Amino acid sequence: MRKRIVIGNWKMNKTPKEAIELCRLLKDKVNVSDVDVVFCPPAIDLVPVAMELEGTNIKLGAQNMYHAEKGAFTGEISPLMLRDVGCEYVILGHSERRTYFGETDRGVNRKVISALEHNLAPIICVGDNNRQRQQGLAMDVISIQVKDALLSLDSEQVKKIIIAYEPLWAIGTGLSATKEHAQEVCGKIRDIVKDLYDIETAQTMRIQYGGSVNGDNASDFFSCEDIDGGLIGGASLKEEFEKIVKCS
Ligand code: PGA
Repeated sequence: MRKRIVIGNWKMNKTPKEAIELCRLLKDKVNVSDVDVVFCPPAIDLVPVAMELEGTNIKLGAQNMYHAEKGAFTGEISPLMLRDVGCEYVILGHSERRTYFGETDRGVNRKVISALEHNLAPIICVGDNNRQRQQGLAMDVISIQVKDALLSLDSEQVKKIIIAYEPLWAIGTGLSATKEHAQEVCGKIRDIVKDLYDIETAQTMRIQYGGSVNGDNASDFFSCEDIDGGLIGGASLKEEFEKIVKCS
């Protein structure tokens, strides 16, 4: 039985002071033990958020990292730094990083390998854009993203990974995928992992849906066989996040 996981991707929102306020608003409401709840604030908020979350079950995650441990990489943040402040998860290959910052599948793979080496669970984002969807290429694109992200990993490593299916046309648009569509793609992602590894690995790995998930539609997604939770953007910044966590 896979444990559900609901992740709040705060994106580039909340100053350190505002981040503390948001933690105070949410932490008692989403401090549950039957679901893994993860807050992924901006890097500069990680330390104050870690302090606020002390004594709760809520886990800390980052929104990105560089694969190297240290060195002349101005502006980057390393897995050692993330571990040192208490991160257990890291989002990798989010579509906004791929679109605005030129992240590639190979670069994501390097980060995934490094994250696992440093005991950080990668949350790998994959998804099709509107054009790819209209041309019927969605599953081809997603399949390449999944396979490239997992290159050279063994099954024990893959079991620790979370894959988030996030269609670009659903992110921040208010137009979520239907639960049927989300289930179909998440099921196919599990099949890809089964073909690459084995049934046990595929059945252990957690797969999420993300893209305009809110308090009203979350339970639809979470009722699907192959959807083990959600990666939540906008709604993770509001009290509504409680409703999403509680229906998972
Ligand atoms: P959204 O973002 O929930 O605001 O659509 C999801 C994401 O990008 O992770």
